[in-house]
Amino acid sequence: MKNLIVANWKLNPSTQKEAKALFQAVKKKAKVKNVEVVICPPFAWLAEGRRQAAEGGFILGAQNCFFEEKGAFTGEISVLMLKDLKIDYVILGHSERRKYFNETDEIVNKKIKKVLSANLKPILCIGETDEERQAGKKSEVLEKQITGGLKGVLRENAKTVVIAYEPVWAIGTGNNCSVDETMSSVLFIRKIISKIYNREIADNMRILYGGSVKSENSGSYIKDAGANGLLVGGASLNAEEFIKIVKSAE
Ligand code: 13P
Repeated sequence: MKNLIVANWKLNPSTQKEAKALFQAVKKKAKVKNVEVVICPPFAWLAEGRRQAAEGGFILGAQNCFFEEKGAFTGEISVLMLKDLKIDYVILGHSERRKYFNETDEIVNKKIKKVLSANLKPILCIGETDEERQAGKKSEVLEKQITGGLKGVLRENAKTVVIAYEPVWAIGTGNNCSVDETMSSVLFIRKIISKIYNREIADNMRILYGGSVKSENSGSYIKDAGANGLLVGGASLNAEEFIKIVKSAE
């Protein structure tokens, strides 16, 4: 199984010119053996990303999508549109979506099912807040987010799901999760998946780590913590740093 390095640009960059330059800089150097590189730009830069991804070097992903296919839903984007742009992956349930846009496990679940029905690959984000961690509720939170997000997802479809473990306290803080703690969370996530589906699906599911990933810490999550890749925020906006991260996963 290839390691998966996903760039989540979030609400950046602000101009098409900058987005174009960033796609180009990554594309040139992102071809690394055994690593699948995915860039998830804001919707506004997806068409530019499509043009550039066509030349190889990276795969295109989206940061969200709606659970209805079409109609009167102002401001939303559908899986049909993403499919038409040849998007492969869709990040769903990111903690920023949960926090600022009130996305619940039920909403995330509807989106996951919609994305799977279009044969796109969902990246389900889960992770506990600092408060939940301090209160000893990490396992409970992760289990609830996984079972809620995957409710009703059939075994044959579960194979294409990617899970991103992103402790909320580690996102954008510079306070990345330790390798030991990440390892135990990855094992716990596999245990839950095994309980819902079976051991084979759990062993083959790609589980990513995200939260203040930098080139200095990236390799250890894959080599020592048992993660199958990374979800990178801030560091993915610097092409040179992002390429170093990609190379650390070789
Ligand atoms: P940072 O890498 O900026 O901490 O963001 C992580 C993240 O939220 C990726 O989805």
